[in-house]
Formats: sequence, C-alpha cells, structure tokens
Amino acid sequence: MGRVLAVSNQKGGVGKTTTAINLAASLAASDLQILLIDSDPQGNATSGLGVTKDPGKPSLYHVLLGGVPAENAMFPTGLEGLSIIPADKNLVGANLELVDVPNREFRLQSAIATVRNRFAYILIDCPPALDLLTLNALVAADAVLVPIQCEFFALEGISELMDTIDRVRDSFRHPLGLEGILLTMFDDRTNLTRQVAADLREFFGKQVFQTVIPRSVRLAEAPSFGKPILGYDPRSRGAESYIKLAKEILDHEQSRKPAQGAR
Ligand SMILES: Nc1ncnc2c1ncn2[C@@H]1O[C@H](COP(=O)(O)OP(=O)(O)O)[C@@H](O)[C@H]1O
Ligand SMILES: [Mg+2]
Repeated sequence: MGRVLAVSNQKGGVGKTTTAINLAASLAASDLQILLIDSDPQGNATSGLGVTKDPGKPSLYHVLLGGVPAENAMFPTGLEGLSIIPADKNLVGANLELVDVPNREFRLQSAIATVRNRFAYILIDCPPALDLLTLNALVAADAVLVPIQCEFFALEGISELMDTIDRVRDSFRHPLGLEGILLTMFDDRTNLTRQVAADLREFFGKQVFQTVIPRSVRLAEAPSFGKPILGYDPRSRGAESYIKLAKEILDHEQSRKPAQGAR
C-alpha cells in the first residue's frame, strides 16, 4: 500500500513544486514505482516533467469531478517508474465546483484508493492556498511534507497550516502525520538564512529534515527543459540534495516499520 504525502504550504514560491517533482524523481530512481498528482491549477509539476497540458486529455479535474477512474488519468513521464496525474486549466474551477458535491473533502482519497497498491509513494503537489483542493490532498494523505523558504516571514502562515492539519485530524478523525519540514532555497552564506533555520529547528525539533535544499540556479532551470534535476544535471548540488531527502524519507519509513509490526 503506497504511502501518500501531500507537499503543502499555502505560501506560493516556497519550493513545493520543485520538491514534489524532484523528490518523486529521486524516489523513482531508487527503483520504486511513484505517482505524482498535480493538484495545482497552474500545472507547474505537469509541465516541469515535460507532460503536455491538454484540456481534452483526462487530468486530475476529470478524476475529482468527471467520474474518470484515476488509472485512466495516469501518464508516464520521461523517467522510468514515475507516473503523473496531470493538472490543466480545467482544474481552475474545481474549488467552486467541489463546494456542492457530496463528500467534497474525500474525492481524492476515494479516487486513489484503487491505485494505491501499485505505488510505493504517491506525492501530491498542492496549490498555494488552504482551499478544497488542499483539503482533498490532506484527507487523502498519510502525512504532510512542508517546504519552507528560509526568509524573514517563514514562520508566518505556518501556524495556519498546522491549524488546518489539526482540523483535518479532528473533523475527519484522520491520523494525518507530519512527514517533515524541509528548508528550501537554503543559502548559508547569509545570516538571515542561518538565523531562520536555527529558529525553525528550535521550534520544530526533529520534525525538520536534516537534509536542506540549497539555492541553486540549476534547480530553477530544470523545469523549462521538462526534466527533473536528475535528468538535467544529476551531479549538481540540487540533485544531490533531493537524493539525500529521498533517502531520509526511506530511512524514516524503515524505522517506523518495526514499531508498526509490534502493535
Ligand atoms: N532550491 C532552489 N533554488 C533556486 N530556485 C528554486 C529552488 N526551489 C525552487 N526554486 C524556484 O523558485 C520558484 C518557486 O518554486 P516552486 O517550487 O514553484 O514553489 P511553489 O510550488 O511553492 O510555488 C520557481 O521559479 C523555482 O524554480
Ligand atoms: Mg507550485
């Protein structure tokens, strides 16, 4: 049964999509079957993996609102082991349309139930909002991965996300975990980055990933070639950091297993 991770932070531009793409690619490179679900109407994860946005083709919108089975909206990417359910401009209206449908927060959870056992991980790239698309992602997920950019207002807004996670846990009796907080666009030459990182580690302790993602032009360039960093510049620091993150996540899972078996 695949583990479902929502990559979420309601702030835009913090590295959600970059993380979703490159973590998915790095996990796939470890010989695992991975599904990436693009749940942002901007469809950056879709185009960043070189998949065309064709409104006539099944996409996440059709899965959530058109009764299309998830497996019919899954497409291969250029990377072996990595499939994607794309987003296109149809998804723009999804938040409004979802308001009136039954079980509106559970659409994604039920849609992926039939395909979960085919994948080791399913990653969901969330939009920059705490909207119904994000709620669907959180309800469908086992845990949330929160990318945070090390800047002055980094902590602002995080409490709102944490409140939403608590609300999902309480309202839906859903044991949603926090997979970890990921420091992105890290530049340790600046005092500000170091200070913000120290604050976050003090506040969140072990919930902050050891791995940090450096600020790297190569990471920013890769999507315009429709490739994850592993395909674009596999020896770059950015590629190394996402491989390290994948390893950290796989190690987490290993260390959780004995505990589960003991129950
Ligand atoms: N580690 C990084 N180094 C340099 N640029 C980055 C890095 N991570 C993301 N970016 C760039 O920052 C911008 C926002 O990143 P993105 O992943 O799209 O954020 P989000 O999905 O949270 O809006 C993009 O232009 C992206 O290429
Ligand atoms: Mg994004």
